[in-house]
Amino acid sequence: MSSPLENTKLFTPLTLGNITLKHRVVMAPLTRDRSPEHIPDDFVDEYYAQRASDGGLLISEATHISVMGGNYHGVPGIFTPEQKRAWKKTTDAVHKKGGFIYCQLWHIGRVAHPANMGGRTPLSSSATEIEGNVVYFTPKGPLPGVKAAEMTFEDIKITIEDYVHAAQTAIDAGFDGVEVHSANGYLLDQFLCDNINQRTDKYGGSIENRSRFPLEVTDAVIAAIGADRVGIRFSPFGFYQETKSSDIHGQYGHVMAECDKRGLAYVHLVEPRSDLMNSDSVKQQQLRELAKAQGKTEEEMLTIKPFREILKNTPLITCGSFNAENSLQPLESNTADAIAYGRYFISNPDLPHRLAKGLEFTPYDRNTFYTTGREGYTDYPTYAEAKL
Ligand code: PHB
Repeated sequence: MSSPLENTKLFTPLTLGNITLKHRVVMAPLTRDRSPEHIPDDFVDEYYAQRASDGGLLISEATHISVMGGNYHGVPGIFTPEQKRAWKKTTDAVHKKGGFIYCQLWHIGRVAHPANMGGRTPLSSSATEIEGNVVYFTPKGPLPGVKAAEMTFEDIKITIEDYVHAAQTAIDAGFDGVEVHSANGYLLDQFLCDNINQRTDKYGGSIENRSRFPLEVTDAVIAAIGADRVGIRFSPFGFYQETKSSDIHGQYGHVMAECDKRGLAYVHLVEPRSDLMNSDSVKQQQLRELAKAQGKTEEEMLTIKPFREILKNTPLITCGSFNAENSLQPLESNTADAIAYGRYFISNPDLPHRLAKGLEFTPYDRNTFYTTGREGYTDYPTYAEAKL
């Protein structure tokens, strides 16, 4: 048991663009690999519906915008009629429970593998590769990564069109909005980070230029579906996929200040402490060292507060290692407006209820995060079912 949070700010309404939530417990995007042929499997609607709650927001797993967007084996897309039809089942099931669902739009850039893209070479800001990269989600199992090709202006133009098509398809499939994935070292982050983006044209060489493509994508998606249905995700402090901006606050501060002018539904940030490869304590030590190197205080490097100050007009969702004990602090200090939970939402389909009532969490089993079928997917019980 932990303290019931039902009478705290976590369970107060929040407006994000065109939707008004009844509580601030958000499901984070989570890759689950249950989409054979890139189409959500028959039971994907059940998984999301189990996690839906009245007035609660779910963000879908990262979903490819096109074949060149990466087409990871087992990962869904949102660009074909079959994908649209399958996702419609999910959005209907979530809405039936009074919930909301956004679709996370994903292009993985240089992290992709030709084996998933008809032999085509992955595209990125520059012709780079991740040292020793292994791509796990291919039909042949893990394969060594390859070097990407630098995107031409034509590639950039087509990719913006792909984002727009995917956003429109998501809305047609019944999603309440889309989240542009500009985090975790995937394509848009490959433009933001100056250790990856080596361009000397209008898409590289300065903070403004490196922000150009992510903002062009955002603007095109806004023009297609409206800013009140568009969110965007950043991980300014992330090192995943070899991201290392030499000026974290300058680079991400600029792109977020631009986002703040656009009236987006929300900005979604990954907490500095949270890392896809390392423990929270290892990550915090790395950031302390980086603070010294970039002339920042530990306080600046270990919190999202500097970005909250920039996002004056935009609701802010924060994500990364949140639980029943540490969720209130960002809300009460006004550092964030909502909290996204990932791993605990996998093993606790009724997570908002458990947080509200102070009920124990079921532990998650990492071994079934990326397997196929229902095991570890739709078979985690609610608290009430577990106690029957
Ligand atoms: C992953 O599938 O490992 C993954 C997907 C999206 C992210 C991060 C990691 O943003």
